[in-house]
Amino acid sequence: MIRSVFLGCGSYLPGQYVSNDALIARYNLDSNNEWIERRTGISQRYIADGEKTSDLATKAALAALADAKLDARDIDAVIVATTTSDDILPATAARVQANIGMERGFAFDMRAVCSGFVYALTMANNMIRVGQAKHVLVIGAETLSTILDFKDRSTCFLFGDGAGAVVLGAKEGKGTNEDQGILATALHSDGRHYDMLKTDEAGLVRMDGKEVFRHAVTNLSDVVDEVLGSIDMKPSEIDWLVPHQANQRIIDGTSKKLALPPERVVVTINKHANTSAASIPLALSVAVHDGRIKRGQLIMINAMGAGFTWGAAVVRW
Ligand code: UT7
Repeated sequence: MIRSVFLGCGSYLPGQYVSNDALIARYNLDSNNEWIERRTGISQRYIADGEKTSDLATKAALAALADAKLDARDIDAVIVATTTSDDILPATAARVQANIGMERGFAFDMRAVCSGFVYALTMANNMIRVGQAKHVLVIGAETLSTILDFKDRSTCFLFGDGAGAVVLGAKEGKGTNEDQGILATALHSDGRHYDMLKTDEAGLVRMDGKEVFRHAVTNLSDVVDEVLGSIDMKPSEIDWLVPHQANQRIIDGTSKKLALPPERVVVTINKHANTSAASIPLALSVAVHDGRIKRGQLIMINAMGAGFTWGAAVVRW
């Protein structure tokens, strides 16, 4: 059986980090650091200063290619998961394809908001499994600061800019859970909740935070059960949880479900805030490069976002 294995990963954070206090002062927000940290776990975020989503994506992609010791010419497809494309058309992936010097293959964007990376990973896995592509670059990249209303104290502190990328490659496996690579994925959406988290007429983020929170906890718990059950795996077999970084309290819900102690959960929300489609590849890249995640270990990835969309993947690094 052909498996999609992780050959490399990389990330990029733009500009300067902006602490909660600096953000509050800059936009004269009626808020305080203590409230933001206690409710979300966020202490700071990065905000791009003129760099576009494709610039962030390109830097993360080049880092991932170098890590995989591959050249852009080896890549068959580029998928950019993003909510904040440079332009409405064409796809940001087309810009990234050109930037990295890839003259063949194909490139497209994946738009599933905070679940974008899990969706893109699943599409890449499917393309590899059917033999359509051998090497796929999967990128999550966002400049969410461009669609935030910095006068809205209920949303603007939550999000940040950044990018992460992985290179997937085809490798023959035995078809068992001992194989390296993506072992199982599960995706869902429920468009009845479209209005819970969306952009308004001015193109700025509006969210019913309480409702999103409530659905996130339930949906993430269910999809973790589903993806593990699909390959007859137990929560106790998971070495690492690398979740979408939306809120520390949502992350705690999943880690409790998996009975994983905090030292087995990769948390970057304190430093990066919620970078939407970029948060999982960013967190993965951080934990792989600081030596926490090691070859052969089992990772649970999960995400939930606007749409609603949600999903999970079990992967052996
Ligand atoms: O990636 C997926 C998308 N997003 C998410 O998953 C986010 C999900 N939602 C959340 O993380 C949480 O709902 C928030 C962090 C956004 C908000 O936390 P909450 O515990 O749901 O707070 P709340 O909206 O119920 O607000 C509680 C109080 C309110 O005051 P009153 O009505 O109790 O007097 C708010 O007005 O906190 C007030 N408040 C603030 N206070 C200080 C709201 N924003 C702020 C603020 N600073 N920035």
